[in-house]
Amino acid sequence: MKHLIYLSLTALTAACGLEAMDRAPETSGAELYGAYCAGCHGTDATGGDVIAGKRAPNLTTLSRRHGGDFPTAYVMSTIDGYARDNTHGPMPEFGELLGGDMASWTDENGTPTPTPAALLSLAEYLEGQQV
Ligand code: HEC
Repeated sequence: MKHLIYLSLTALTAACGLEAMDRAPETSGAELYGAYCAGCHGTDATGGDVIAGKRAPNLTTLSRRHGGDFPTAYVMSTIDGYARDNTHGPMPEFGELLGGDMASWTDENGTPTPTPAALLSLAEYLEGQQV
């Protein structure tokens, strides 16, 4: 069921509202990014390493490449692994790693969805890095 929810989230392309609650300070998006993502996507998120023949994409152009709206659901699904069930690219899945505190994420339809707080923090951080 969770699987299906995430798959349907990936279909959303319009701007999504973010609302995170009960977030521990140590799960700040910038810190999480530095710890888990910068190694491949670069400290400035402009992309970098080639992993198994694929270059880690530039994450500052996500909005530009998704019609001008930051693709929150797609980003969270990618990190969580669900968006890549069929592709199994070289990027690791962080689903279990990010399974700490839950927060409420409100999608574009105003539907609150329980979501790992760390995922929201990461998505918000990346949204702030868009060019
Ligand atoms: C081991 C290297 C590696 C790490 C670590 C990594 N990624 Fe990736 N990431 C990739 C590669 C390679 C791709 C493209 C192929 C794929 O999807 O696997 C990718 C794809 C993505 C995409 C889709 C980009 C697009 O243009 O569609 C997002 C979003 C993303 N990563 C975010 C993150 C975040 C956030 C983290 C940290 C939690 C992270 N990645 C950690 C290598 C990595």
